[in-house]
Amino acid sequence: MSRSAHPAGPRHADVLPEGHYSAPPADLNALDSKVWARTVERGEDGVVTVGGISVTQLAEEYGTPAYVLDEADFRARAQAWRTAFGADADVFYAGKAFLSRAVVRWLHEEGLNLDVCSGGELVTALSAGMPADRIAFHGNNKSPQEIERAVRADVGRIVLDSFQEIARVAHIAQSLGKRQRVQIRITVGVEAHTHEFIATAHEDQKFGIPLAGGQAAEAVRRALQLDGLELIGIHSHIGSQIFDMSGFEVAAHRVVGLLKDIRDEHGVELPEIDLGGGLGIAYTSDDDPREPHEIAKSLTEIVTRECESAKLRTPRISVEPGRAIVGPTAFTLYEVGTVKPLEGLRTYVSVDGGMSDNIRTALYDAEYTVALVSRTSDAEPMLARVVGKHCESGDIVVKDAFLPGDLAPGDLIAVPATGAYCRSMASNYNHALRPPVVAVREGEARAIVRRETEEDLLRLDVG
Ligand code: LLP
Repeated sequence: MSRSAHPAGPRHADVLPEGHYSAPPADLNALDSKVWARTVERGEDGVVTVGGISVTQLAEEYGTPAYVLDEADFRARAQAWRTAFGADADVFYAGKAFLSRAVVRWLHEEGLNLDVCSGGELVTALSAGMPADRIAFHGNNKSPQEIERAVRADVGRIVLDSFQEIARVAHIAQSLGKRQRVQIRITVGVEAHTHEFIATAHEDQKFGIPLAGGQAAEAVRRALQLDGLELIGIHSHIGSQIFDMSGFEVAAHRVVGLLKDIRDEHGVELPEIDLGGGLGIAYTSDDDPREPHEIAKSLTEIVTRECESAKLRTPRISVEPGRAIVGPTAFTLYEVGTVKPLEGLRTYVSVDGGMSDNIRTALYDAEYTVALVSRTSDAEPMLARVVGKHCESGDIVVKDAFLPGDLAPGDLIAVPATGAYCRSMASNYNHALRPPVVAVREGEARAIVRRETEEDLLRLDVG
């Protein structure tokens, strides 16, 4: 995001030396379609609607804070990924971004597969009727119970993440009289251009088996020898919120290099290659994500080219987008509780949620935008920081944003692009009750995940 200060004038921001803020937008009432879910628009009365329902009605029925998810947008994005990759590739939605039983059903109906990474995600997927053979099971330390559950359910693949796990899954499968389809996750040594905590293909980290030093080749040797395993491919995931395709290019080159070595050593051509997820979305107007069809074209071309030069049959490609499907489809609706102007600094706007419903700002320095959605305003823009109600000064939802200067308690504001990694990373910090996820479609709203209640909190407290 640009860091230029806004034009001089008697506003709170003028003395700020450095920040993540740009000049205030020309029209604070406008909603940039880049960051808002597709059916979001501002009605003639100034109130924002989604799927034909006003945010004031949603706030009245479901309370705030609430995650509001545009179901039509979710389905359209899922379908766009599916269509872009076509019948010769598989799209696995990464459930860690946001998973619920309704989401599983939508994915099933739209023809996507599902990547899960815990027993909890697996049970959610199975209980909502996702066919087991369309589920991939991930994780760097799956418990024996989780592995057994996945093998018994006949999941389509388990992605092996360590030497111990190769032996563990083989042993469990064999003792159940099964042969489990597996991929091996390797780290290809790519530095993805993203935040350190969400970059995953450099070697100094916990995921995968390094290609370097022949470790991945050794993992393949072991997997091929074990009766309980059917090795179907190699997996690589280089990180998250990535815009630059060059990391995928290097990763594909190295994965195909390994496939070639496997062919040369074992006479086996593995049929699949999974390039993971990690495709970025627009959190602010400055982000320019690519469309699924461009990504599909680019990844398919890269793999095909690499295989041609290695004289390998092109394997079936799979990808695992999470954020790119669900991220843009939801916004978080908050009610303003207090507005505190700090002379010469900025105005602190406290909302009824915070780091318990969106930890990404505190954790990754993530940038978000925000808009007044319950009315329009012609007031002068003020530089605001949207903060939560938690007992922590780092409890920031939107670090720097312009909001109308007449913002007042009771106004509804919304933060777009919160569909991914917000509800799924939500916590009960300060015994906050986690917000509901309200799905809206064609004039109808329903909670697909209900709000937590005080009874839910007390039910767990068995002391
Ligand atoms: N596949 C694998 C093996 C993954 O580990 C991940 C994400 C994905 C796919 C999906 O990545 P996506 O397309 O959603 O970027 N909490 C962080 C992101 C952590 C991602 C972990 N793995 C955040 O809020 O940015």
